[in-house]
Amino acid sequence: PVLVVDFGAQYAQLIARRVREASVYSEIVSHAITADEVAAKNPIGIVLSGGPSSVYEEGAPQFDPAIFELGVPVLGICYGFQVMATALGGEVAQTGNREYGATPVTVTDATGNVLLAEQPTEQTVWMSHGDSVSKAPEGFTVLASTASTPVAAFANDEKRLYGVQWHPEVKHSEHGQHVLESFLHRAAGIAADWNSGNVIAEQVAKIQAQVGNSRVLCALSGGVDSSVAAAIVHKAVGDQLVCVFVDHGLLRAGEREQVEIDYVASTGVRLVTVDAREQFMTALAGVTDPETKRKIIGREFIRSFEQAERDLVAEAAADGEPIRFLVQGTLYPDVVESGGGSGTANIKSHHNVGGLPEDLQFELVEPLRTLFKDEVRAIGRELGLPEVIVGRQPFPGPGLGIRIVGEVTEERLELLRKADSIARAELTAAGLDNEIWQCPVVLLADVRSVGVQGDGRTYGHPIVLRPVSSEDAMTADWTRLPYDVLAKISNRITNEVDGVNRVVLDVTSKPPGTIEWE
Ligand code: XMP
Repeated sequence: PVLVVDFGAQYAQLIARRVREASVYSEIVSHAITADEVAAKNPIGIVLSGGPSSVYEEGAPQFDPAIFELGVPVLGICYGFQVMATALGGEVAQTGNREYGATPVTVTDATGNVLLAEQPTEQTVWMSHGDSVSKAPEGFTVLASTASTPVAAFANDEKRLYGVQWHPEVKHSEHGQHVLESFLHRAAGIAADWNSGNVIAEQVAKIQAQVGNSRVLCALSGGVDSSVAAAIVHKAVGDQLVCVFVDHGLLRAGEREQVEIDYVASTGVRLVTVDAREQFMTALAGVTDPETKRKIIGREFIRSFEQAERDLVAEAAADGEPIRFLVQGTLYPDVVESGGGSGTANIKSHHNVGGLPEDLQFELVEPLRTLFKDEVRAIGRELGLPEVIVGRQPFPGPGLGIRIVGEVTEERLELLRKADSIARAELTAAGLDNEIWQCPVVLLADVRSVGVQGDGRTYGHPIVLRPVSSEDAMTADWTRLPYDVLAKISNRITNEVDGVNRVVLDVTSKPPGTIEWE
């Protein structure tokens, strides 16, 4: 792999993704890694990320300088560039000349080096630093400078060590991806051969080795991650895999069919649907508190899954091949973040299909553990999954149960399903699916307002549209949808959905609002 060394900022994940966009496999490691540990991973290149500190600060993240002696090509970025300069005998000065944001840079030496070769002499890059490299180490050529930073990039082609002060991984740096690719493909000579086809082949072999002849269970939600994870496992072990889909009655229109018909048709997986609709409705009767709803839905989900699991385990044992494995759609950001261990407040008790109890006696199969979401989608497409599944926007595990403000009843679900499918259909028809992250449609079941329809007075419920734009759902902004699309959705919902006489738009960012209403 190419190792991306994390110096404690948010940049490492982005760099890892950009490296993969250059068709090279990357892994994130801590800056505390030693030269021996690096050598054991047998990397073909190393990228040092930016970080929040000054190299002079007490407690600044340290880095084992022996790593520069391993003969592995290294690219230092921002803080990583300064770490490299310091370790190799250059100088870093606290000049007090902060550079932040879009900054013009001049490539002063593009001849004879591969990093910035073929790049325009004048370009704009993204900077974020206080300290600056004031002197390049011996044997290094200075490649670029800015008005206040004389050494903005350097190279030692012979040792294959390179550094840039700016952030080539952010889109605001013109030619940023080209810098990364020049480092990877030309300086380090790494082939561009990481692609969905290879990932699938690699995972299939790994799963076969792990699972052998045992049976494997998967809880399918209809979402991207579990669908793709199950499809890879199925490709590896065929009908040793059984998927369980719990219909909790809180799904949107057509979702059960998407799984039972489209997904099964495209993958051939063996699917067991647990129809738990009544069980959930009974458990939710009379409940209005959002956290209580979430807890009940989580609990009932586990109950239904375990019931199905017991039956399948018994059946498998009777056949002589026990179920030993459980598939989980864990993604790379989850793996990296849970290693970080920074505590976050419990805003809502999230439930997803991964939220199964820990005492299930299974070993985990996690074929997506090394992948980012966009890669998971690409793999899903490569595996021939339907676009409605691989392109699906996020949908919460507790489903429509947390989009009815008030008690959840069959009637209200039916009403919300209609409103939701109108909104989704119109957003899709307007070509807006890629503009929005997701658009929850919420029923205010305990609110009623007066309206007029035909010649009569109505007293109905409002529907809230909550279109949001986001990168990762941690923060979000409300999407400025075109008025005519909003008008169309509003007209159709008030005309076609009995009991709704008003459609309102949620114009709150996150924070302070969350994306879901409960
Ligand atoms: P909030 O409402 O916390 O939502 O801003 C952030 C993102 O998470 C989704 N969400 C969930 N996803 N199980 C899930 O799998 C849950 O319990 C859950 N609750 C919220 C929400 O749709 C948004 O994308």
